[in-house]
Amino acid sequence: MTYKNHSLKQLQAIDASHHLHPFTDHRELRESGSRMIVGAKGPYVYDSEGHELLDGMAGLWCVSIGYGRDELAEVAYEQMKELPYYNSFFKSATPPAVLLAQKLAEIAPKGLNQVFFGSSGSESNDTALRLVRHFWALEGKPEKNRIISRKMAYHGSTVAGTSLGGMEGMHNQLGGAVPNIVHVMMPYAYELAEPGESEHDFGLRAAKAIEDAILEVGADKVAAFIGEPIMGAGGVKIPPASYWPEVQRICRKYDVLLMLDEVITGYGRTGEWFAAQTFGIEPDTMTTAKALTSGYLPLSALFVGDRIAKTLVDKGGEFYHGYTYSGHPVCCAVALKNLEIIEREGLIERVRTDTGPYFAKALQERVSGHPLVGETRAIGLMGAIEIVSDKQTRERFQPVGRAAVLVRDHAIANGLMLRATGDTMILSPPLIWTRETIDLACERILKALDLAEADLR
Ligand SMILES: Cc1ncc(COP(=O)(O)O)c(C=O)c1O
Repeated sequence: MTYKNHSLKQLQAIDASHHLHPFTDHRELRESGSRMIVGAKGPYVYDSEGHELLDGMAGLWCVSIGYGRDELAEVAYEQMKELPYYNSFFKSATPPAVLLAQKLAEIAPKGLNQVFFGSSGSESNDTALRLVRHFWALEGKPEKNRIISRKMAYHGSTVAGTSLGGMEGMHNQLGGAVPNIVHVMMPYAYELAEPGESEHDFGLRAAKAIEDAILEVGADKVAAFIGEPIMGAGGVKIPPASYWPEVQRICRKYDVLLMLDEVITGYGRTGEWFAAQTFGIEPDTMTTAKALTSGYLPLSALFVGDRIAKTLVDKGGEFYHGYTYSGHPVCCAVALKNLEIIEREGLIERVRTDTGPYFAKALQERVSGHPLVGETRAIGLMGAIEIVSDKQTRERFQPVGRAAVLVRDHAIANGLMLRATGDTMILSPPLIWTRETIDLACERILKALDLAEADLR
């Protein structure tokens, strides 16, 4: 690899001169320099200086089967030699795309039998937004075009993704969002439940905020509600069990389509193929990406429900939408192999019955008692740790975000890649983590918390 001819300092200088990173304060990065990740194996990544880091984030919520899987490299190599690219425009298809679509329909929640491929979660949400509005237009209701979403939602970084999402900072830089998207409260009991309000009641109240928005806008104008089953980038916010069934009931009552964004939760993270199955709901569209290929290649799949698909096929004519890389054969071949490995190794079953419950218990019993920790929560292999200055009052350190960044930096210095969002530490490890890996992560988290506490107090 050519990077071996460059020192870290040289790479950092080139990086600073030519490379604009995503979601980054560029001046700050230029001052600190990038960490160069140069290799990875199993649950670990390695930087240029030889440090081994346990990857608590599976890259960016995606490397579910862990790093260094030769089988994926081999299948990509074989497919590239056979057919590196062909599009699915003008009545063409490739076998990997067709067979992947079939496999996805087999594992999907009930009623989702068609997929539309893209390269990223953001693209896939663009497709979903266009498709849902197009559906209602085809049904003779073009004015039924409003979308209800939630504050702090993350649906990607394109203009449509940002507009659908509820991140204030991102909206402030948008210079005009896609119109007709309304944001309601998120189902986050830790901060938003009233004193004495049960989790159950809070879940119903958060769902009612959607009903209120539908009534305010008028049901004849609302196309869909979109939500991540568990808000990921917003801080792994796990809704109360009462929330999703009630959201589905409300959507059905007003004939509002239910769009799920499973870009993070898809392909086993919650202990089922999809979180829709974990929560017992049946969406009309479902966006997926990331773990579809375990991040080895970029690929997204938007699942489309039978009702929408039927209208699109019967009444739609040409849908003027698609991407050069929709159904890319190499990405689809890698996805098929990735899904085969997930099944062969029983990773989803393991998350549901063993590592998932163990992970939640470990966070609860070993981490939540730390003086800096307000709450831990987990579902499957997805977890969060709230950092507070006062456990009782839930007061945060000021300025908000500084404490979590300290914890993160200490965690990384002690061999655990962990992410901070606001004052929440988030974890989304590869599904190959074992009880031993979870124990090791907890040790490193506790060490990072102790060191951060010493800095803060
Ligand atoms: C829930 C959700 N939707 C959409 C996206 C956007 O995906 P991508 O970064 O592949 O465009 C993300 C990315 O983290 C996500 O978490």
